[in-house]
Amino acid sequence: MTTPIPSPPALPLLGHITQIDKEVPLRSFELLADQYGEIYQLNLITRQSIIISSYDLMNEVSNDKRFSKAVVGGLVETRKGLGDGLFTAYPGEENWGVAHRLLMPAFSTAKVRDMFDDMVDIAEQMVQKWERFGPLHVVDAVEDFTRLAFDTIALCAMSYRLNNFYMEQSHPFVQAMGDFLLESGLRANRPPIMNTLMRGSSAKFEADLKTMNELVDELIQYRKSHPTEKQDLLNIMLNGVDNKTGKGLSDENIRFNLLTFLVAGHETTSGLLTFTLYYLCKNPEAMRRVREEVDEILGEGPIRVEDISKLKYISACLRETLRLSPPAAMRAVEALEDATLSGGKYFIPKGSRIGILTAKAQCDPKVWGEDAREYKPERMYGENFEKIPQNSWQPFGYGMRACIGRPFAWQEAHIALAMVIQKFDIAMDDPSYTLEIKQQLTVKPKGFYCHAIPRNRSS
Ligand code: HEM
Repeated sequence: MTTPIPSPPALPLLGHITQIDKEVPLRSFELLADQYGEIYQLNLITRQSIIISSYDLMNEVSNDKRFSKAVVGGLVETRKGLGDGLFTAYPGEENWGVAHRLLMPAFSTAKVRDMFDDMVDIAEQMVQKWERFGPLHVVDAVEDFTRLAFDTIALCAMSYRLNNFYMEQSHPFVQAMGDFLLESGLRANRPPIMNTLMRGSSAKFEADLKTMNELVDELIQYRKSHPTEKQDLLNIMLNGVDNKTGKGLSDENIRFNLLTFLVAGHETTSGLLTFTLYYLCKNPEAMRRVREEVDEILGEGPIRVEDISKLKYISACLRETLRLSPPAAMRAVEALEDATLSGGKYFIPKGSRIGILTAKAQCDPKVWGEDAREYKPERMYGENFEKIPQNSWQPFGYGMRACIGRPFAWQEAHIALAMVIQKFDIAMDDPSYTLEIKQQLTVKPKGFYCHAIPRNRSS
């Protein structure tokens, strides 16, 4: 005997769509989880969704044989720009396999080490900016880490400098992509008829997409007419041939994947860095340990590639940030066969879409204790991290569709954080600020401002 999956009362025609906050849908999903428990069901007009939020259920659906990635909600809209690129490809699409096999080696930890100098180059630009603006300047952390992450991925992926640190306003491409992602999220949670009626928003959506496509197409054509030896991601995609199928990637698919790297590579990493700075400001003892580690490993000299693996406390802080505030706060899977969850309690028909509230499941007291919501990097330090239960920490997703850019993000975040802490004491602009979030495709802190005060190293 199975138990029906709970569902909040719904409106005729509109289902549960009016219960989802337009600006931060994640909050609504979390509040409903507080009310209805670890599993509940929603009718979001364009899709029926089962939402899960406990460790046990997240662990159960982390199984590539029974559940595959589902491209739903905001991802369906994002697919209008990213097509069958790696992130938005439907399971089984041929181009996903070709691109995955070609690009996995390029994202290995060893290959990402070759990108170290380019990453430091961009981080230096940000640090210099903060130095020159001085301690009274109010740093918009999200804004600057977004510039950093964008410039880094553009330089490493296609040897292109967006030069965001030299501009008053972000590069037009960056603005277009930000607006495109915001609108993608909004469109996913509006009744389809409203999207049709909102002609102005639709026209802007198309115009932003055009701006994005034009730059990337131009870069592809330029590289074709000016070939280089550099093994960046663009060259690997242009020249690579898949061993399994003997196929390469079309120009269109290369564009989809370049856009994918720009989207996936900037939103998440900038969120991770901003959340971490916030948590460190709020937890002076963790900040002290980070500074101590940076002083010991880097001293006053430039960061070196071999330092990254020695920055173990920074690793713990980044992991703890990703547990409490995973920038990709939700992902979705689809049942490949009829299934049951929770020891046979809930029946899940084949084809059901299940949204996983990673952010909540990673705070399950069953795994993390009653202080699960507290920032404690020690639980992620060294052996402690190795002992956490399987699938209890999933900020980079799971299985064959897990994040390909993890080593890239990891190296970039270590470099940026170590360089910032080496040079500055960070103070919140408003010491009473407590975390608020904004949501595009991913979540980031909202309204977090700080001061970067050059360090007095004798203290
Ligand atoms: C996939 C998180 C950085 C490229 C994913 C997924 C998650 C994730 C959760 C799985 C999504 C799903 O199942 O629907 C993160 C986080 C990052 C990060 C937390 C940083 C802190 C990056 C970077 C890149 C990147 C820097 C590229 C340079 C991708 C791609 C996929 C992906 C291409 C799709 C992989 C596939 O389905 O084959 N990421 N990501 N990510 N990520 Fe990341």
